[in-house]
Amino acid sequence: MHMLKVYGRVLGLLRPEWRRCALMLACSLAIAAIGFLDPVLFGRVVDLLSRSASLPPEQLWPEAASLLGLWAVVGLAGIGAGMAVALVADRMAHRARMREMSRFFSHALSLPAAFHGKVHSGALMRILTSGTDTLFHLWLGFFRDQFVGFLSVLVLLPLTMLLNWRLSLALIALVLLFGALTAFVIGRTQALQKGAEQCHLKLAASAQDAFANIAVVQAFTRLAAERRSFAALQGAALAQQFPVLNWWAVISILTRSASTLAVLSIVVLGTVLHLRGQASVGEIVSFMGFAAMLIGRLEGLVWFASKLFAHVPVLDEFFAVLDAHSAVPEAPRAAPLHAVAGRVVFDEVGFAYPNGPAILAGVSFTAEPGRVVALVGATGAGKSTAMTLLQRGWDPVGGRISIDGQDLRAVTLESLRGAIGVVFQDSLLFNRSIRENLLVGKPSGTQAELEQACRLAEAHDFILRQPQGYDTLVGERGGTLSGGQKQRLAIARALLKNPPILILDEATSALDAATEAKVTRALKALMAGRTTFVIAHRLSTVRDADEILVFDAGRIAERGGFDALVAQGGVFAALVASQMPAAAEPVVVPFPAARAA
Ligand SMILES: Nc1ncnc2c1ncn2[C@@H]1O[C@H](COP(=O)(O)OP(=O)(O)OP(=O)(O)O)[C@@H](O)[C@H]1O
Ligand SMILES: [Mg+2]
Repeated sequence: MHMLKVYGRVLGLLRPEWRRCALMLACSLAIAAIGFLDPVLFGRVVDLLSRSASLPPEQLWPEAASLLGLWAVVGLAGIGAGMAVALVADRMAHRARMREMSRFFSHALSLPAAFHGKVHSGALMRILTSGTDTLFHLWLGFFRDQFVGFLSVLVLLPLTMLLNWRLSLALIALVLLFGALTAFVIGRTQALQKGAEQCHLKLAASAQDAFANIAVVQAFTRLAAERRSFAALQGAALAQQFPVLNWWAVISILTRSASTLAVLSIVVLGTVLHLRGQASVGEIVSFMGFAAMLIGRLEGLVWFASKLFAHVPVLDEFFAVLDAHSAVPEAPRAAPLHAVAGRVVFDEVGFAYPNGPAILAGVSFTAEPGRVVALVGATGAGKSTAMTLLQRGWDPVGGRISIDGQDLRAVTLESLRGAIGVVFQDSLLFNRSIRENLLVGKPSGTQAELEQACRLAEAHDFILRQPQGYDTLVGERGGTLSGGQKQRLAIARALLKNPPILILDEATSALDAATEAKVTRALKALMAGRTTFVIAHRLSTVRDADEILVFDAGRIAERGGFDALVAQGGVFAALVASQMPAAAEPVVVPFPAARAA
């Protein structure tokens, strides 16, 4: 059964702590045995008392003392074992939760864009927190209650057969009834519970989405609408959850009734057997004790089953993330990339997103070391996608990409990405200080290096004007900075990284003309000696690129130098004309030609 498989996997996560687990299982075993001994000793005491009138005191007292002494020792041992379990189990569960959290966190971070495009970050957060919380409670519950519960039912129950098999049949019938009822309810409500969890994931994603886009929510007066759609999701979650709760309420009533019936039948059966001389009063008392213990354990197990059942969908999501594979796995014998020169070759590269249309087809070009290659073309033509492939965000579906003769699929991801600096189309910043955001480019960077990069990127002055200078927090995704400021930080970050290959995806699009001119001068310094890809809609920006690739619907329609392309009178010439219709000579902020290394 799926639920048991998931539970097995949950417990299997404790393998690194197997020594402690073994200790706790031993303690639990002792607790279970004591739970069994308790009613046996009680029955003995009752039997002794019923014989007390016919026993001489010198025989009665020693027998009573040894029984009571044993009972006391057993009780104390139970307390000791219980304490040991509580102490060790809590610590271990806390440690293991942190361990699984880290594993999940680093695994999710390593998953490709394909995964993160599908799973909303809000849902991912919920899976992380509720998944690890669930693990924590299941581990703790296992050592505190469930293991003893399983033992009592599976091992000790058959042992009652040895005491009085007729009476133990009543207990076995009770266990079977509990099991059947639980299985029935689980079967009835599984789909509903999964649906409820899906609603919770959507709730988390929707809340996170609204928080992340708070400006849109407020500017478009979406408050009421967002609240309504949130409430609708909540309604859907409850609509799925309530029937499940009803079923479990029915179960708890039925199991209660079954327990009462079982106790009654032991009394009746016991009386009949006693009258026939097939059971002593002590045995009946012992069985009453067994019944009470078993009923307690069984009710605990049914409760546990209902909890586990409610959590299985959360765990399914949790394990699904852990099991998700990277779409760009590293080859088993991947070698570090030796990108000294930075010669980039696209050879008949084709690409499509999974189950999507072709985005790139037959894209071939060579970027010689130190050259500037510009990618231009209509929006959605595939320029950013081509550069994502160069960073191996995805693998091409056809053709190959190589750097200095090494196929990207044969090199380690870390070395590949270490060799490429990117200024993204959206300047992505962490909700950390400016300094920390810059150090992402070079963790060992000194303050002098930071400042130098920021001066080149025309960012130093505005940083100093921030309340805490370099230590100013930039807010979520850099929310407290202007678009141009974010872009300049992104450029400074790439400058610090100092990679042999550079990708500038609309790197200066958010800057005013004067600042762009200054930043462009800085980029000149940055581009010198490295292979640079410039994506730009403002064609003036690519005036002096060594080669311009004109993308049109995923293909390279034209290629060449700026002037040659304009003279050609094709797609590029039309683009240029549309941007600078009035100017006979285009007004350009020239990109200084980069020199080969
Ligand atoms: N993660 C994704 N999943 C599916 N399709 C995508 C994804 N990212 C981009 N696309 C699609 O791929 C096509 C090319 O997108 P791309 O971002 O490469 O265009 P672009 O040339 O950089 O455009 P722009 O100039 O607007 O930045 C678009 O049709 C886009 O919808
Ligand atoms: Mg783009």
